[in-house]
Amino acid sequence: MKKFVIVSFGCQMSFHDGEIIAQKLIEKGYEYLKGEDERNSDTEIIIFTTCAVRGHAEERLYSRVQNLKNRKKEGNLIIGVGGCLSQKEQNKLLKALPWVDFIFGTQAVSRIDSILDEVIETGKAYDEEWFIDGEYVPKSEENVDPDGLKAWVSIMKGCDNYCTYCIVPYVRGREFSRKPEDIIDEVKFLTQKGIQEITLLGQNVNSYGKKPAFGIGFPGLLDKIAGIDGISRIRFATSHPKDFSDELIHCIAKHDKICNQIHLPVQSGSTSVLKLMNRGYSREEYIEKALKIKKLIPDVALTTDIICGFPGETDEDFEQTLSLVQKIRYASAFTFYYSPRKGTAAYDMKDLLPEEARKKRLWNLIEIQKEITKQETAKRIGQIEKVMVDSIEKTGKYNWAGRSDHNRVVVFNSDQELYGKIRDVEIESASSWTLFGKKIND
Ligand code: 5AD
Ligand code: SF4
Repeated sequence: MKKFVIVSFGCQMSFHDGEIIAQKLIEKGYEYLKGEDERNSDTEIIIFTTCAVRGHAEERLYSRVQNLKNRKKEGNLIIGVGGCLSQKEQNKLLKALPWVDFIFGTQAVSRIDSILDEVIETGKAYDEEWFIDGEYVPKSEENVDPDGLKAWVSIMKGCDNYCTYCIVPYVRGREFSRKPEDIIDEVKFLTQKGIQEITLLGQNVNSYGKKPAFGIGFPGLLDKIAGIDGISRIRFATSHPKDFSDELIHCIAKHDKICNQIHLPVQSGSTSVLKLMNRGYSREEYIEKALKIKKLIPDVALTTDIICGFPGETDEDFEQTLSLVQKIRYASAFTFYYSPRKGTAAYDMKDLLPEEARKKRLWNLIEIQKEITKQETAKRIGQIEKVMVDSIEKTGKYNWAGRSDHNRVVVFNSDQELYGKIRDVEIESASSWTLFGKKIND
C-alpha cells in the first residue's frame, strides 16, 4: 500500500483541493500520512497543491521541491504538483523542476486518481487535458475526514472580476456556481457526519447564482442553509464589496447562525488606486457600505485584505489607506506588498516602487493595524462570548479552547467534556487575538 502526503500552500481553496485529493487516494487504497509533509521519509507519493497569488508563495514552492532532488534520485518517489502555480506555469514548471513526475491544473483535482494511474503506467508528466477550464466544483462525498466539527463547502469556482493585480481569474478560470440543491444536500450530509460549522467558499461568494442563473442569489442560499437542523454556525469567504447587497446585510442580521464576522477586502483606501485595480467601488462607497454593515449587524467584526505599493500609488494614496484603516477599525487584516504577476493587467503598469519601498509601506500599515487589532480584542474583556469548543488546551492553566462568533481563540477551564459544545464564556483578559475567560453556563 503506497504511502502519501499532501502539502498545500495558499488559500482555503488550495487546502480544500488537498483534502479532496487525499480522499481520492484513500479510496484507491493508498495510505494517507495525515499531518506529515514531504520531509517524512516513509512517503512514496508527494502531492503539492500550490498558490500563485504572490511571488513569495511561488519561491517557497520552488525551494521545497528543490529540496527533494536528491531523494528523488535515490528511489521510489512520485512527486506531483497541482493547483494555481502549475496551472499558471505549466511546462515551464516541469522544465525548472525536472524531477517532478507530473503536474495538473486546478480543474483536474477530482480526476487525480486516474491521472496518477496514467503517470505510473506511462510515465506521462503532462497532458493538456489536465489543464482545461471546466465546471468542476468540489462535491460532498469528496469531503475528506473533516475534524468532526467544521468543514468547508465550495459553492462556486473561478472569478470573472479581473482585478488588475490578481492571477486568480487566469488560474481558476471562469466563475461557475454549483446548483443550490447540491449544496444543500452536501450540508445535510455533513451534519449527519457531526459537522456543526460550515464555511462556504468561493472567490466572490456575493456573485453566487449568477452563472448559471438559478433564480437564487447568495442571501437566498444562506437562508436555506440557515434552515438546516444540526448546523450551528455558518461562515463564508470571500466577499467583494461591490456585490455586498443590502439584502445580504439583512440576511446576516436576521440569522443567529450566520457568524457576525465579515471578510470585506478593501485592497486600498484611495479611489484612484481602486480604479487602477479595477475594483468597481470608490473609497467613499466602501466606507458607506462598511458603516452600514456595522450599523445593521450589531457587534459585527470586519476583517480585510490590503495591498501596499500598487503601481502608481503615491504617498497621498497610501495615507488614504492608513486613514481608512483607522476609520473602519478592522478586527484584523491580511496585509501584503504588491507582487507583480505576469499575465495580469497591472504587470505592465508604470510607476512601480522598488520592493524595499513597498515593504516599508507594508510595515507602516502593519504597525497601525496591530495596535487596532489589540485594542479591538481588548474591547471583548467583560463581554460574554459564545464559544464552540474545538480543542484541548495543553499550555498554561486553561484546559479548553474554541472559537468565538468572531473567530477569535477563546481559552477557559472546565472539568466537563466540552468538545463540540457551545458555551458562554465571560472574558477576563486578552492578548492580541486570544481571549481568556471563565465559563458561565453548562
Ligand atoms: N500582490 C499582492 N497581493 C495580492 N493579492 C492578490 N494578488 C496580489 C498581488 N499580485 C492579495 C489580495 C487578495 C489576497 C488573497 O491576496 O489582497 O485579496
Ligand atoms: Fe482576484 Fe479580484 Fe477575483 Fe478576488 S475578486 S479572486 S482579488 S480577481
